[in-house]
Amino acid sequence: MARYSQEQIEEVRSRSDIVDVIGSYVRLKRSGSGYVGLCPFHNEKSPSFSVSPSRQMYKCFGCGVGGNVITFLMEYENYTFPEAMEHLAQRAGIELPKQELTSREKQQESLRASLLEVNKKAARYYYGVLKSSRGTLGYEYLRGRGLTDETILRFGLGYAGQGGGELYRYLKQEGYDDRILQESGLFKMEERGVYDKFWNRVMFPIMDVNNRVIGFGGRVMGDGKPKYLNSPETKIFDKSRNLFGLNYAKKGRHKNIILCEGYMDVIALHQAGFTNAVASLGTAFTEQQANLLRRYTSEVLLTYDSDGAGVKAAMRAIPILRRAGINGKVVHMEPYKDPDEFISNLGAKEFAQRMDKAQNSFFFEIQILEREYSMADPEQKTQFIHEMARKLLVFEDKIQRDNYQEALAAQYNIRIEDLKRLVIRYGNQMPEGYQEAMEDRNRRQRRGNSPEPEKGILYSYRLLLSWLIEEPELYGQIKDTITPQDFMDGQYRTVAELLYRQLEEGEVIPARIISHFQEAEEQNAVAAMFQTNLKGELTLPEREKAVNELVMKIKEYSLEKQTGQSTDLGELQRLIDQRKELQGRNKLHISLKDG
Ligand code: GTP
Ligand code: MN
Repeated sequence: MARYSQEQIEEVRSRSDIVDVIGSYVRLKRSGSGYVGLCPFHNEKSPSFSVSPSRQMYKCFGCGVGGNVITFLMEYENYTFPEAMEHLAQRAGIELPKQELTSREKQQESLRASLLEVNKKAARYYYGVLKSSRGTLGYEYLRGRGLTDETILRFGLGYAGQGGGELYRYLKQEGYDDRILQESGLFKMEERGVYDKFWNRVMFPIMDVNNRVIGFGGRVMGDGKPKYLNSPETKIFDKSRNLFGLNYAKKGRHKNIILCEGYMDVIALHQAGFTNAVASLGTAFTEQQANLLRRYTSEVLLTYDSDGAGVKAAMRAIPILRRAGINGKVVHMEPYKDPDEFISNLGAKEFAQRMDKAQNSFFFEIQILEREYSMADPEQKTQFIHEMARKLLVFEDKIQRDNYQEALAAQYNIRIEDLKRLVIRYGNQMPEGYQEAMEDRNRRQRRGNSPEPEKGILYSYRLLLSWLIEEPELYGQIKDTITPQDFMDGQYRTVAELLYRQLEEGEVIPARIISHFQEAEEQNAVAAMFQTNLKGELTLPEREKAVNELVMKIKEYSLEKQTGQSTDLGELQRLIDQRKELQGRNKLHISLKDG
């Protein structure tokens, strides 16, 4: 992808006033030194969306979204980064150089175009076979599962015949060469010859949001194994970034989107009138899919299978949705396994009722957690409540957390003050932050880089960065102890470097740090680094204690890591001395002036 230079990005960003830009989409009212309005990213009646002219950032205290003027357009208009840049540049009267494609990029473009063509031709071919006399088996199977001709047409369902090489012969006739066909993932190229990957299966074309066929799922008719065979990932098929049915679900203004596990569930739901159903593509639900959904809805109903695996899948999906700022709810399908079975047994009306009764996903998580403890035993109940308090830390917004605390305190007969105190206690030991540790781990696994930092250290980094932005006075007190080199994670270190430079220069503009990164995911991650905050509820001495502990923790971790990595004896000695000194000090005596 073509790239803009940091100077170009910064020019566009700094000449696009965030209040003007957001003000053209959202009615903003002045409030203190900033502006507030109704959040455009979730439904709300009282304003929790705030825009800060001095920082050039926005933040919603309700749903947690935040960022700068570029990320706003990316979220609001579904623009890509270059699209948002172009839009803002035009608005500000800035001439951006045309982004020329390199010859390699052109080649890639044409390969992608050919692959899309091949997939489209294959889908038409399979559909044609299904509707011909050669496709009776497949057609009868689908009709037998209750699908109408209209539904079959709408989803372009097809049948891969029994020959094992029909699609290949057809596409060769159409003039495609083996290299393209190989890349399509629809064939097995072996020494003895070329075979169709799919044969004697009913075919489910997988489309992207723009209705382009990017891959297939094929189901055996009966009990053969594997039940579903999916296209492998290709240049155009990324299973973690697409959702089956989203091309239809995105249309029309739905209150929410239903997330299911199977293609058949989606199709059955659409046929029953629930055209807002989507499914992941035979793999676990991902963060990218959550971000994709975020463009179209702020509420997702999970209809995972009510068996053990389904509950597990739901438990994995819920935090992902939450981090994407989506309100997740769980639809219970008992006594049936999945929406397809539910609908064919109880019908659409009953399903709609179940949707209305969808359970708050946090309560669902707590309910599953509760199963692990025996509530009659005071010891176990205590442990459970501690675990619950830790989990409550996922809510960084105070009002939201209060609401959950109240509900849970009532449900489990605990005094609300006790629960709150417990949550704050865990909040200030932050590194134990439960959800954050999970989050950090997931992030690491996705990026597949460097060894995993100690549980929760990234949360400490976020807390310190947020703190520095809110109270730049703190900088003078910590800068000798913690330098950017003490952030033992590449992305955090870059952010720390940028922030330290701004603090040195005496002008903190978090928005500029965000737009240093060009990928939407990176930008979101960085915006989130600046919005980690629990200190509002602490008294001054408690806050001082928290900052001191935080700085100690980060320094200790850094020294420990460096000691582990060092091979130079002199340096090692220096590190060991530093650690001794730090441990001896025990306290850093950072003081905060006032609340
Ligand atoms: P039906 O049995 O046709 O109703 O399918 P289902 O949609 O209920 O499928 P199930 O709940 O068993 O699986 C959900 C999804 O997981 C499917 O839609 C596939 O995407 C995927 N899946 C299921 N079985 C397999 C398999 O054997 N291999 C692979 N790769 N994916 C599978
Ligand atoms: Mn099923």
